[in-house]
Order: sequence, then structure tokens, then C-alpha cells
Amino acid sequence: MSNKPVVLLTRRLPDAVENKLAQDFTPILNPHDRLYGTEELLRLAADADAILPCHTEKFPAATIARLPGRIKAIANFSVGVDHVDLEAAKQKQLIVTNTPDVLSDATAEIAILLMLGAARRASEGERLVRNQQWKDWSPAFMVGRQITGKRLGILGLGRVGQVVARRARGFDMTIHYHNRKPLDPDNAAGAIYHDSVEELLANIDVLSIHCPASDATRGLLNRKRIAAMHRDTILVNTSRGGVIDDDALVAALQTGDIAAAGLDVFNGEPDRIHPAYRKLENTFLLPHIGSATEETRNAMGYRAIDNLVAIFNGEEPRDRVA
Ligand code: DGY
Repeated sequence: MSNKPVVLLTRRLPDAVENKLAQDFTPILNPHDRLYGTEELLRLAADADAILPCHTEKFPAATIARLPGRIKAIANFSVGVDHVDLEAAKQKQLIVTNTPDVLSDATAEIAILLMLGAARRASEGERLVRNQQWKDWSPAFMVGRQITGKRLGILGLGRVGQVVARRARGFDMTIHYHNRKPLDPDNAAGAIYHDSVEELLANIDVLSIHCPASDATRGLLNRKRIAAMHRDTILVNTSRGGVIDDDALVAALQTGDIAAAGLDVFNGEPDRIHPAYRKLENTFLLPHIGSATEETRNAMGYRAIDNLVAIFNGEEPRDRVA
């Protein structure tokens, strides 16, 4: 047994990541990739100096308060950190890190896939072929919307949003955005700034959501704001389900107040999502796979390890969020 710090991995990570972690740390692995409940997590954490969790493990204040004193850090395998109460972590002097940048390309790919899938009725078409219900072709068959040349609104033009903007320019889309403040011209790259969410929503054909989930953004896409979008608008979300008021979006999709939605993230995911999403023909749904590529999973793991190495060397980790 070495004196390497002990790191609790809450989920199974790629072999390359687990092997790299073992060079500097003693990992507590989860080879069967079971989803731990809070009590089991706390029991396993009793022997650890740090935890390397995913967004599937929740760290509200009550759980953080019960973490053993020897735990120094929560080094997340995720860019989103809404599953951790950062204020409670700060109060307990726990260092919290995330894995930004490395998943921007993969997530942007899924955002574009959602746009196309929702605009071109991909779910509906796929079901027809799979279920042997495809009987005919006619000029009126499966007519969808084109995204080429349309106005793309990006809510949160940060790391992921900027990659989405670059990819969307390949479809000749005009980029509009809302952030709390306008970006500098280099990062905005010609995108048109709107100083309110409402103004953005009223001036676009496709909305892509990239703002983090927080108290400030919970339910941001509510009934009133959704009503500000015109009837042909397509909404896609690769950020977090919490940004959307599901009842409001479902109602707008049912009445045709917006055209379609492409969703990769949900309130209540994985198994308690709003049931109407599954029934609607104008939704294109994916199971939170924005960052699910081999390259990105490895890169997320290496980034989390880099953060842990810095922390246990007494240095400031690159991606500290608390
Ligand atoms: C992230 O990194 O936030 C992804 O949503 C996976 O957790």
C-alpha cells in the first residue's frame, strides 16, 4: 500500500483514465458502474481523500455536511456543477473543480444534431422506417423545415455556444445571442447581441440553450418567454433540463406555438421526464449524450486528474469552481 491519496470514483471511467489515475492516486473503483445512493456514497467516501463524481451523484448541502473531514476535493467529471452545492462546499473548505473546454466540440455536435433532427422530423421518419409504416413517397411527405440561412439564437454564448456558432455558420446561419454582457468582438465573431432574453427570442428561428443551470436560470424558458418566439421556431437544449419550464414547453409544442424541440437534457432525467415529450411528434429526444464520445470521455477524465494532481501538490487547480 502506498501513501498515494485515495480517490473515490463514483462511476466507471474509461480504462485509459482509470489507469492514468492509478499512477498518482489509489482509486476506489466502481467496476460494475452502479449508481450509488447517498448512504453508500458516504460510506465509501469514509476512506477517500477526494471524490471524482459525475453529474449523476448529487451533493446537496446536507450530503456535503456529512462528508468526512479528510475529503479535500470534489473533482467533477463534468462541466456542469449544478449537482454540487458550491456554497456548502466552500463553507466546508472543499475544493470543487469541473472539466470545461474538452467537451465543447462533442456537445456542439449534438446541438447541431438536435437542430437538424427537430427541423427535419428525424424521430418521426425513423419510426416510420423501423416500424414498417413507410408506405409511400409524395411531395407532401415528411416535409420539415430547413435550417440553412436561418437565424440561430444562442442563449449563453460561452465555450460550447461559440463552437455551435462556428458550426452553424457552415449552414449560413446568422448568429444572435444573449449573455449578461456582450462579448469582445473576437469571441463574438460577428454575432448579434441582444440585451434581454425576450429580445433574443423574438428575433430568431432556432434557439440553442447553453447557459448553466443555477437558481438564476431555473425555468428561464417559461410560458411568457416561449410565447415571445414565433410559431416556426425550433428550440434545442444541450445544457440542463432545469432551464426549461416543461409544462410551458409541452403546451407550446402541443398547440403549435413553436414548431419543434430537440432535447438532450431533461428535468427528472433519466426516468421521470415529462411524459408528454415522448408522445409528441414534434420532439427529437436524446438521452443526455452531449459529451458521449470516446475522445471527450478520455479528455474529461484527464482534465479531472490534472485538477486532482494540482490540488494534492498544493497548487491551484486550473478548473476550480469553489
Ligand atoms: C457535463 O459535463 O456537464 C455533461 O452534461 C455530463 O455531465
